[in-house]
Amino acid sequence: MKPFLFVSDLDDTLVYRTVGDDNALPELNQLLSQHRQEYGTKIVYSTGRSPVLYKQLQAQKNILQPDALVLSVGTEIYLDGTDTPDSGWSEILSPGWQRETVLSITQKYRELVRQPDSEQRPFKVSFFLQQEVSARVIPQLEAELQKKYKLNVKLIYSSGIDLDIVPHSSDKGQAMQFLRRKWKFAAEQTVVCGDSGNDIALFAVGNERGIIVGNARKELLQWHNEYPFDYHYLAKSFCAGGIIEGLNYFGLL
Ligand code: GLC
Ligand code: MG
Repeated sequence: MKPFLFVSDLDDTLVYRTVGDDNALPELNQLLSQHRQEYGTKIVYSTGRSPVLYKQLQAQKNILQPDALVLSVGTEIYLDGTDTPDSGWSEILSPGWQRETVLSITQKYRELVRQPDSEQRPFKVSFFLQQEVSARVIPQLEAELQKKYKLNVKLIYSSGIDLDIVPHSSDKGQAMQFLRRKWKFAAEQTVVCGDSGNDIALFAVGNERGIIVGNARKELLQWHNEYPFDYHYLAKSFCAGGIIEGLNYFGLL
């Protein structure tokens, strides 16, 4: 057996956010930690959550201590349990990132409702935006930020409600590849898992193995239908159960 790089979203991928039980989670935890111990497999959690909301989840659910933590939709990387974001990654995100300008432009949009302060991060500005108006507002806002003001930003919409604005060089996919190169894992020995819009970057960035859990949201399923690849597996089971199914499918365990 060879080591692999395991990168998973948390909410509604590794664990249930609201409804559903985490029955398969202890088995997945056991399989992963054993693989880490025996073969040097690395475990990474990659989430939209800030440090504050990550700590909340950690207190509620039985999750492992990861080798690296990617928070705030890929804009912060924490290695080996430290509390300070990796400066090598921040340096990649800094050039051209104008947080204040983004904030003042977005203020004009009545449809954008600011997320709680804890979710506003150095490289991430986040709003709630209702699904019904998103198809109209997002292209308009994107054109204003990128074309009119020439800002190097990316808009990421997830779960029919969350809108994140981040540096163009950042997302979960870029952060994953940063770690993959750092630890020298081949794409074939890397597996990413997700359920929603902010996970599309994990699947779209390269040819890493991908597990889409059975309970995935519409936006990710639509993307998968449009861009089907044989190295992406759509699981039948939900959450951790779907991940176990996918790891077996790829012969990684
Ligand atoms: C998490 C974060 C939120 C973000 C969302 C989607 O829920 O707390 O700020 O918008 O993920 O990335
Ligand atoms: Mg999720």
